[in-house]
Formats: sequence, structure tokens, C-alpha cells
Amino acid sequence: MNSNAKIYVAGHHGMVGSAIWSALEAKGYTNLIGRNSKELDLRNQLSVSDFFSQEKPAVVIDAAARVGGILANSNYPFQFLMENMQIQNNLIDSSLNADVQKFIFLGSSCIYPKLAPQPLKEEYLLTGPLEPTNEWYAVAKITGVKACEAIRKQFGKDYISLMPTNLYGPNDNFDLNTSHVLPAMMRKFHVAKEIGNEPVELWGSGSPMREFLFVEDLADAVVFALENKFEDNLYNVGTGTDLTIKELAMLIQKTVGHTGEIKWDSSKPDGTPRKLMDVSKMEQAGWKAKVELEVGIQRTYEWFLENLESFKEVRI
Ligand SMILES: NC(=O)c1ccc[n+]([C@@H]2O[C@H](COP(=O)([O-])OP(=O)(O)OC[C@H]3O[C@@H](n4cnc5c(N)ncnc54)[C@H](OP(=O)(O)O)[C@@H]3O)[C@@H](O)[C@H]2O)c1
Repeated sequence: MNSNAKIYVAGHHGMVGSAIWSALEAKGYTNLIGRNSKELDLRNQLSVSDFFSQEKPAVVIDAAARVGGILANSNYPFQFLMENMQIQNNLIDSSLNADVQKFIFLGSSCIYPKLAPQPLKEEYLLTGPLEPTNEWYAVAKITGVKACEAIRKQFGKDYISLMPTNLYGPNDNFDLNTSHVLPAMMRKFHVAKEIGNEPVELWGSGSPMREFLFVEDLADAVVFALENKFEDNLYNVGTGTDLTIKELAMLIQKTVGHTGEIKWDSSKPDGTPRKLMDVSKMEQAGWKAKVELEVGIQRTYEWFLENLESFKEVRI
């Protein structure tokens, strides 16, 4: 990839988009473009199409989406379904019309069926019912994967879909109403420590198993995908290892330095019992995650402390 190629990173201020932007800059890409949602509302088809006509990017990386945890998904099913489809449809369709040669679509591991065998292989897509707590988001993401696959098939263009596992890192969302499990735990432990190591109450039983990827590792995978031609459309991106939510809680508790009790609220939903990616396809393509979970959590907590006054609060 030419270092002067015009690369549009959609969602460049988000956790994922900002990490991708930094990784591209670090690799010497000099012609990056981005717009925040106020400058360009990606739900608006006409605005997106005009933007592509003016800017004519060579590459598009789609890191823009309406994202959130179980609570946000169950409270706002329509927004999670419709806004995600609008954003990705406008980007994919405009990219095709503007002859964008490389498009990288980012989805999520929730596209796979709730009870699919573990670890999750790409071929399990659409083989069973989805996890109900985030099916709206998952259905939208599946249509994005299929749109890229259809373009590959029909037009022979290098449009690919990367499915990251649970991500965490700098610029994450720490709003307890809409955040994912890892940043939510980090904030709860931090606040409880500050008020004298009060007990921390966490959702569910603590027994589900989850996999976590540091966002800078994902950004590295995106740059790898940009610089290499993949044979297929769909690739999982993860570490290939998981741990229980209880183990995760203890790791974060130790990093934060909270010494109080942890209480588990089993009346709250656990979600899928286990969600581990099979990452062998990506490894065969030549990419592997590098950052250990302990290291990533430590770096995320350092970022959290540095940005306590200003970190992002996402509200719908
Ligand atoms: N976080 C995870 O654990 C995780 C895991 C797997 C996959 N992913 C995928 O990674 C991608 C990015 O997630 P993230 O965690 O970085 O989310 P994020 O921090 O919430 O960032 C989302 C970005 O999308 C932009 N956006 C949302 N609605 C928009 C609109 N209508 N018009 C223009 N821009 C809009 C936001 O722009 P503004 O800031 O300007 O509003 C923001 O930059 C998503 O596709 C998600 O599925 C995330």
C-alpha cells in the first residue's frame, strides 16, 4: 500500500478508530481523513455519497458504529439495528460507487450463534439462533459481512470483514449505562477504592468465559489487513485464549488496588456461557495478537487515571 494513499477512517475518534489512526500514522501513512458524527452523519445517505464524491478515498476502514453493552442493546433495539445498518450500508454502497479498492469492515464476535461450538470458527456464521441480548446489533453486523462478501463475489474487489473479540484499551467507554464489562469493572473498582474499599457489586454469576483483545492489537491487525490481500471475506481477530469473568474481575481488582469484597448479582443476565474465537484463519494469513491481558489492563488503567476528568461518556 502506497504511504500516500488516501485512507478514510470512519469513526476515527472512537476507541477502535483512534487506535487505527495512530497505528496508520506510526506506519508512515500520511494521507488520512476522518470526520466526526457532527461533521458527517453516516446515517445520512446523501451526505455520505457527497463526501465520497469530494474526497475520493482509495481505502475505507469502517470503525463507525452504535456500540454498547447488554443494557444499552436491550433498551434501544431499534437504534442498534437501524443505525448500524444505515452507517455501514452508506459506507459500503458509497465505496463501491466511488470505486474504493479496499474496504475493511469491522464487526464483532456476537455475529456467531449463541450455542455455536467453541472456539468460534468463521464457518459457524448463520448456523443457529443468536444471543437474544444483542441480536439487533448482531443482525446489523451480519448484513455488513454479507454485503462485503457479495461485493467480493460479484465485483472481485478486496472488501473484507474482521470480527474482533471483546476489545478494551485507551478511549474506551467508561459510562456504566452503556459500557462493556471490562471498563465497567475498572470504573467500579476504582470508585469503590476511592471511597474506602467499599464492596463492588458485579453483574451475573461470574462464571461465563470471555476473551479480550487490546485495541492496539486490533489496530495492528487492521494495518496488516490493509497491507495484505486476503483470500477470503471473513476473519476472526482475537487472542485465542479466554478466562472467566470472575478471573477478569480479580485481575482488574489487583491492577486498580481495590481490597474490598466482590458481590455477584446472579439476578442479572450472564449472556453467552462462553465466547472464544478460533483465530487460526488469521494466524494462517500471518497475523497474531501480541499484548498480554495483564499488560493491556495495566495500560488501560494508566490511561483511565490520566483521563479521569475528560473520558468519554456515551449516552443515547
Ligand atoms: N468495543 C468493542 O469491544 C468492540 C468489539 C468488537 C468489535 N468492535 C467494533 O469496532 C467498531 C468501533 O467500535 P468502538 O468500540 O470504537 O466504538 P466507539 O468508541 O463508540 O466509536 C464509535 C465511532 O462511531 C462513530 N459514529 C457513531 N455513529 C455515527 C454516525 N451516525 N455518524 C458518524 N459517526 C458515527 C462515533 O463518532 P463520534 O465520536 O463523532 O460520535 C465514534 O467515532 C464497531 O464496528 C464495533 O462493532 C468493538
